Amino acid sequence: MLLTGNKTLRQIAGLAETCNFLFLKLLLKNRAKARQFPGEIFRSYMGLVRDERWACRSIFELFPQAAGNRVVLEHIPCEGLLTPLEQLACLALITKCLQPRAIFEIGTYRGRTALNFALNSPKDCTIHTLDLPPGMRLGDDLRQNSADRDLIRASSPGACYEGKDVAYKIEQLYGDSKTFDFAPYRRSVDIVYVDAAHDYEAVCSDSENALAMVRANGCVIWDEFANYGEYNDVTRGIQDVVGVENIVHVENTQLAVYFQPAD
Ligand SMILES: C[S@@+](CC[C@H](N)C(=O)[O-])C[C@H]1O[C@@H](n2cnc3c(N)ncnc32)[C@H](O)[C@@H]1O
Repeated sequence: MLLTGNKTLRQIAGLAETCNFLFLKLLLKNRAKARQFPGEIFRSYMGLVRDERWACRSIFELFPQAAGNRVVLEHIPCEGLLTPLEQLACLALITKCLQPRAIFEIGTYRGRTALNFALNSPKDCTIHTLDLPPGMRLGDDLRQNSADRDLIRASSPGACYEGKDVAYKIEQLYGDSKTFDFAPYRRSVDIVYVDAAHDYEAVCSDSENALAMVRANGCVIWDEFANYGEYNDVTRGIQDVVGVENIVHVENTQLAVYFQPAD
C-alpha cells in the first residue's frame, strides 16, 4: 500500500499497519512527531523481516570492507533536518569504502552532507552539490509538498561548509534539478546522492538523472526512503524509475542504495 499512487489509501494503510497505543499517546503529546511514527515503525519492521517488498541489509553486509574503517563526522545541528547521526555515519562509511573521485549531491540545504562527504573522501575528490538559486527559493510556486516548501525557504547552501579546511573539494552548483543540464557528468560520478525535492515528478526526474550520471561500480543513494507521509513519493518514484528489486534499503536509516554494475 505504501507504493500505491492514491494518497488517502496510503494514509489509511499507514495507520492500519502501524497504529498502536504508543502512536495514540504520541499523537496527544506531540502531533508533529507523531507523523514520523508510522515511517519509523514500518522501517523497523522491514529491517527485521529483511526481504519483503525490498531487501534491507546492514551497512556492513552491503560494504564488508567498511569494518575497521574510521570516519570523521562533523555534526552540525541543522534546523528542519531530521537526519540522524547513524545515517551520516553510513554515508561517511560508504564514502570511505568507495574512495570516490566525484560525488554529485542533488539537494545541498546548508551543506552538512556535502561537508561530511568532503571529510571522508580522498584529497582529489570533487563534491558537486546542487540547490535552487536564491531567486527560486521562495518556494510557493514550486512545490505542492509543504515540507519541501519549508526546507526550500530555510536552505542556505554553503552555510555548513564555508570556511572549513575541506571546502576546496566542494563545488556549489545552482539550478532547478528538473531542468539542470546533467549531461557533462554522464557516467562519471562514483556516488550520486539524491536528496532534493520529494514530490513524485521531481523524484522520478532526479532518479533518472542519477542513473545516467553514476559510473560503473559506483552507486546512487536516496534519502527519505520507506517513509509514510509527506515523503512517501520518494519510494514510489524509485519503484517506478529504478524498481525496488534493484535497490537495497540500509538498515536503521532512510537510505536506499542502487549499485551500478561493472561495465
Ligand atoms: C532535504 S534538503 C537537503 C539536505 C542535505 N542533503 C543535507 O542532508 O544536509 C533538500 C534541499 O533540496 C533543495 N531543492 C528542493 N527542490 C529542488 C530542486 N528542484 N532543485 C534543486 N534543489 C532543490 C532544497 O532547497 C533543499 O535545500
